[in-house]
Amino acid sequence: MKILITGGAGFIGSNLTKRLVNDGHKIVVLDNLLRGNKIDRDTFKKIEFVNGDVRDFELVRELSKGCDVIYHFAAVLGVDVVADNPVETMDVEVIGTRNVVNAAQINNVGKILYASTSGIYGHSAIESALTEEVLVDPRTSYAMAKRYNEIYLASHHEEKGLHATCLRFFNVYGENQDNRMVVPRFFEQAISNKPITVFGNGMQTRDFTYIDDTINACVDLMLTKGYHIVNIANEEEWNIKDLADAIKQITHSSSIISYIEAPKKRYDYEVERRVGSSDKLKRLIGYKPDTNLTDGLKKIYANNYQ
Ligand SMILES: NC(=O)c1ccc[n+]([C@@H]2O[C@H](COP(=O)([O-])OP(=O)(O)OC[C@H]3O[C@@H](n4cnc5c(N)ncnc54)[C@H](O)[C@@H]3O)[C@@H](O)[C@H]2O)c1
Repeated sequence: MKILITGGAGFIGSNLTKRLVNDGHKIVVLDNLLRGNKIDRDTFKKIEFVNGDVRDFELVRELSKGCDVIYHFAAVLGVDVVADNPVETMDVEVIGTRNVVNAAQINNVGKILYASTSGIYGHSAIESALTEEVLVDPRTSYAMAKRYNEIYLASHHEEKGLHATCLRFFNVYGENQDNRMVVPRFFEQAISNKPITVFGNGMQTRDFTYIDDTINACVDLMLTKGYHIVNIANEEEWNIKDLADAIKQITHSSSIISYIEAPKKRYDYEVERRVGSSDKLKRLIGYKPDTNLTDGLKKIYANNYQ
């Protein structure tokens, strides 16, 4: 198949690009390299790469010609980046998604898979793992735009029959990730024996999903029909203090763990608990995450730091 991946040079996109090239697909990547190019050299030789902006409609229309599927992953992200650039964050989300949807319809692209986020659950009180039916609570520019796009895609499905899947990723981590995110940041601090900086008391929880499990789900969902929102979670709830301890131990680091107050601009992102249920994904594609957090962290250490 011919597949367009927006944001394909980023962390998740580069891993997806590699996998789909290995599966024998023809891949076109559109990325403005905001975060550099994370596609490895071998894979890069086998794809069509275009350095451009998803907000450029003519470009998106041109690149989606003849495509069967679009993975739309281009986005501005990272808590500090988004907090400092809320307008660009929303523009890339809203204009980019509108361009992708319009181009897909003009070019008869069969399916869009859109990178949404577990961030849209916001501060929703949780008693058990979050399902897709929970009332969402997006508060940030980033989460609000992601939720808007979920509904925008649902509307196109209802009115025009577009097939679309919204992927609510839960803290993806793994190879190629940069230090905007907590796992690589803790690794860097631990490896250099500098203090591992935890915001607040470290009791806040997250659900960390290994990149290979995430990519398997993205690929297995490629041809599902209709409109779906799905959680891609690992279903393990870890607090940030335990994450810091685990990375310290795996790296044999002498770092201290330093608890600092979160900057005010991070307030809306600093939710107390987040853990997802992927029951729906299990029913849809037989999803089963293979890598728990401890094993995932060990893999990162072995592959990147030894
Ligand atoms: N990493 C996670 O844990 C996580 C969690 C929830 C949702 N997501 C979503 O998954 C997707 C991929 O995330 P990631 O972790 O790979 O992030 P990333 O920042 O590594 O990748 C995003 C890519 O989009 C590109 N991009 C940004 N603005 C663009 C524009 N205007 N035009 C073209 N390209 C542009 C960047 O250059 C980058 O390569 C994003 O949509 C993100 O919101 C990620």
